Amino acid sequence: MNVAVSIDARTALLFSPCRLAGLDLRSRIVMAPMTRCMAEDGVPGPATASYYARRAAADVGLIMSEGIGVDHPAALGEGTFGERNMPVLQGAAAIAGWRAVTDAVHAAGGLIFAQLWHQGPLRRPGSGPQPRAVSCRPDGRWGPLDGSTSAPPDYLEAVRPPTVAMTDNDIADVIAAFGRSAAHAQTAGFDGIALHGAHGYLIDSFLWPETNSRVDAWGRTLAARTRFAVAVIEAVRAAAPALPVAFRYSQWKLQDYDARLVDTPDMLAALLAPLVDAGVDLFDVSTRVFHRPAFAGSPLSLAGWTRRLTGVPAIAVGGVGLSRELKDSLMAVVPAEDNVARAVVAIERGEFDLLGVGRALLADPDWARKLRQGAPLPAFSPAAFATLI
Ligand SMILES: Cc1cc2nc3c(=O)[nH]c(=O)nc-3n(C[C@H](O)[C@H](O)[C@H](O)COP(=O)(O)O)c2cc1C
Repeated sequence: MNVAVSIDARTALLFSPCRLAGLDLRSRIVMAPMTRCMAEDGVPGPATASYYARRAAADVGLIMSEGIGVDHPAALGEGTFGERNMPVLQGAAAIAGWRAVTDAVHAAGGLIFAQLWHQGPLRRPGSGPQPRAVSCRPDGRWGPLDGSTSAPPDYLEAVRPPTVAMTDNDIADVIAAFGRSAAHAQTAGFDGIALHGAHGYLIDSFLWPETNSRVDAWGRTLAARTRFAVAVIEAVRAAAPALPVAFRYSQWKLQDYDARLVDTPDMLAALLAPLVDAGVDLFDVSTRVFHRPAFAGSPLSLAGWTRRLTGVPAIAVGGVGLSRELKDSLMAVVPAEDNVARAVVAIERGEFDLLGVGRALLADPDWARKLRQGAPLPAFSPAAFATLI
């Protein structure tokens, strides 16, 4: 089902050039990071370059790449749904592959950040480029499984057996890996680094008390749980000083849709402040529905709270242009929804700065251009998961 978006003059705000986080953006539409599993041996090919360039040419202001495994043996395994062929950034072939991608995006007038990813506790043991690597977990155990989840039961069973808690040396190795990958991203021509600190993966697993019961300097208090993220941000900044850093975080986890990192605005402020001090230029606030109030007693969204508490520009993402959340699109068509006007109002009043779009841009490379032109917006079909148009 297509929906014609009611465009008024304010929609132009989305497509006026703006300067944020040191970047000159041609629009406020950000393509959300989306794993595509099309990188054979971890190397992106020409189809990946045209996939991203097509979106850049059609009015997307900033592209977040799919998650790219950092230069560490346990960074990647098969994904939640058995996905493989996720990309890496180390080695001449991968760097050259990504250089072709960034060149194509730049030629189309766009900007692209590299999303650096370590799967941590959510890596399927025995899979990925280095199957024998031991999965990384802050405390060696597995968090609770009592929330609702999008992950299939066989995957949850596979990742569940305990592994060993990371030692200080393990932690230092992973932090260094993020630094190396950031340096490679700079060599490959990326415009910034996007850190995947969301959804239950490694950085998030340090932030979340359910997966971090350490009682040393890396756990126990909220401040200590942010220390790993801070160290990663600092390593990335040191290795690629020219590049701005975006940090993605979420309340929800793949293994628990109802999870919460923080329960109050004060806790959120305490979580984010050290990340800002470490040098985050942009927050990518991953929610399942971008306009849902984050805390009781206020209509403000999580991106809105992030912006208000830190003063750092924020991206809101989750269900833009679509009527249902991610989980519901795995099997069935998701109708389009005209909720862009709501986002424009929020941007206008300074609640957040940029609008992240995932599935809608997966299904239709021209989604942003259609929005600008007032053309009907498309529904999302699960068939889009398997293509690279
Ligand atoms: C196919 C697919 C792959 C995804 N892969 C990633 C990823 O690699 N990294 C990430 O941070 N989020 C990933 N996500 C989440 C999206 O970035 C986004 O937050 C989510 O789809 C909600 O936005 P939407 O409602 O506009 O689709 C993925 C989503 C989809 C649909």
